[in-house]
Amino acid sequence: MSTSKQLFTCQLSGYETFKWLGRCPSCSSWNSFLESAPSPRRTAPPAQVCLLKDVPVRADHRLCTGLAEFDRVLGGGAVPGSVILLGGDPGIGKSTLLLQIASRLSACHKVIYISGEESPYQLKLRAERINAGANLLVAAETGLDSILDVVSKHRPGVLVIDSVQSCYRSELGGVPGSLIQVREVTAELVQLAKETETVVFLIGHVTKEGVMAGPRLLEHMVDTVLYLEGDRGHTFRILRGVKNRFGSTNEIGVFVMEEQGLAEVVNPSALFVTRRSRNVQGAVVTASMEGTRPLLVEVQALVIPSCYATPRRASVGIDLNRAALIMAVLDKHAGISFVGLDTFINVVGGVRISEPAVDLTVAASLVSSLEGRAVGSDTAVIGEIGLTGEILPVSNIKARLREGAKLGYHKYILPQANLSTLKEEQGSVNITGVENIKEAIDACLL
Ligand code: TYD
Ligand code: MG
Repeated sequence: MSTSKQLFTCQLSGYETFKWLGRCPSCSSWNSFLESAPSPRRTAPPAQVCLLKDVPVRADHRLCTGLAEFDRVLGGGAVPGSVILLGGDPGIGKSTLLLQIASRLSACHKVIYISGEESPYQLKLRAERINAGANLLVAAETGLDSILDVVSKHRPGVLVIDSVQSCYRSELGGVPGSLIQVREVTAELVQLAKETETVVFLIGHVTKEGVMAGPRLLEHMVDTVLYLEGDRGHTFRILRGVKNRFGSTNEIGVFVMEEQGLAEVVNPSALFVTRRSRNVQGAVVTASMEGTRPLLVEVQALVIPSCYATPRRASVGIDLNRAALIMAVLDKHAGISFVGLDTFINVVGGVRISEPAVDLTVAASLVSSLEGRAVGSDTAVIGEIGLTGEILPVSNIKARLREGAKLGYHKYILPQANLSTLKEEQGSVNITGVENIKEAIDACLL
């Protein structure tokens, strides 16, 4: 059978077929097939097999940037030979962040920053603005082969590619950023990283649907995926680990976009929560764990009579299914119904929270708005709600309380089951333990 038969590949889903199709059977998009030659089989030497226990152990020499917020998200620095993908909306600050990182790393390592989107002069302007880049090698290049040549000539310890969608190999066909191109470029760069122990940072664009353009495939190929998130209306940016082969994925790093680039925020709780001098209905503070770090956040709710047959349920920062579950438990076990009411939930500052320890905070803010009764401005509420109406214990309670104390929170509504571990704290702060949702709501509202 001939191996040079033409292949047609859907540029969106990667579906391959020997015949051109108008519509992709996998992702249903129209006119997305492009002709491509099947990738030639590489002849490789036979794989070496050895006992895992005989693999030599190296000292874990991660490359640290000195930017603590960034290093923590990576799990303590970048591992040599790893490929790190940084995704985010256009203009969010990806190039700025990686230029800063590259510049810091260039103090101790050879770093090449390859930009397919900006000229060296534009990079210089940006570097001057953020006061960086003295030792950095830069190149404006989009051809993959030229990039590989540059790497084999200079042998850098760190390579930054801005962006993977602008890289291109002409023999492959398809426009830069298309599936075939992105797949091939990434595969080559992954191979390069593994063979030469180079740390490769890739910048990836995100489409308006919020996925990495040149699809999910990219996320499978690399070792670490980071997303830089933020709201155009706010200056702070959150760096979130989505995948990490060498560390935890729960960590976040918080930065503020300033005149001189991104600055790390050492005390993010103070950014998301402002201590009020008066009590406000519908706003409740909690201490949430983001990886190993506690973060104080404010959950706000608004409950109003609905003008529609099906009331609106909207939520920003909290999963809508979780919010529906909390409302169902409030109805069943506390007799508080949201029938015929529009409910809106928002976590202040655009933070996203996925841990269940904020259940009770959401419940308290909803009931606070519904009943027009505030929760004390000096009170923080923490607890997971079970479908049985019980308040379940949460992890890391001491760390949460310590974070709260930093911002002056001295009153806590907590799961009763957590109290046994808080003997010392009970002398200095006012803690109320609660066992079920009804008791908890009574304790929260003034
Ligand atoms: P950029 O890093 O170019 O975004 P991306 O690579 O993700 O597309 O960031 C662009 C934005 O950052 C731009 O709107 C201006 C702002 N910015 C600052 O506020 N301060 C700075 O020092 C720099 C370099 C950029
Ligand atoms: Mg950019």
